[in-house]
Amino acid sequence: MKIIANLKMSLNQDKIKEYLEKVSPVENLIVCPSYIFLNDFKNYNVAAQDVSINNNGSYTGEISAEQLNSINVKYCIIGHSERRKYHKENNEILQQKLNKLLENKITPIFCIGEEEKLEELTYQLEILTLENCYIAYEPVWAIGTGKIPTNEKIIEAINIIRQTNNQPIFYGGSVTPKNINKLSEIKELEGFLIGSAACIPESINQMLKLTRQN
Ligand code: PGA
Repeated sequence: MKIIANLKMSLNQDKIKEYLEKVSPVENLIVCPSYIFLNDFKNYNVAAQDVSINNNGSYTGEISAEQLNSINVKYCIIGHSERRKYHKENNEILQQKLNKLLENKITPIFCIGEEEKLEELTYQLEILTLENCYIAYEPVWAIGTGKIPTNEKIIEAINIIRQTNNQPIFYGGSVTPKNINKLSEIKELEGFLIGSAACIPESINQMLKLTRQN
């Protein structure tokens, strides 16, 4: 199984240095550092945490898919619930981001997840070209809260995703070394998208050991 480590805006330069010393660049790990640290991870599989809807040009503060491609970034998270919430990202915006990534041969890690009811996933999946991507199912209420759904509930969500889609599925939301074993029993999962626990070198190393080796 693969682990996608979403470092969000958590680590500063000293901590990144320590991370690089303690976490090895293994095949089944994809690290998502802030843009400013992407190049520090050039021996690793890396993902950006977001991308602009625009091509290169006069867009102060933005980063384009073409620029990411030019430094060999192979993956990019889009539609994380924090982006949907704080930056009002909807299907229309996400479709544009998805297109830019695919045009630049970057695999989108497309995040979906309900605030309350699983039916919300249906709207989030109504995006036109959901192909050549990873789907990360992250219930909003499970992110950073220490609460996780039962394996049965995750399988229910997977079944909804599978009605329209056959891309690899990841689970995210409060995954830790304590619960990753149980979650790994879900055969249909390709891996996990992990935030807080993935920022701690010892715990990411532990989780890499605990997941299924396929
Ligand atoms: P968490 O975050 O593991 O801290 O819950 C997951 C995510 O937001 O991707």
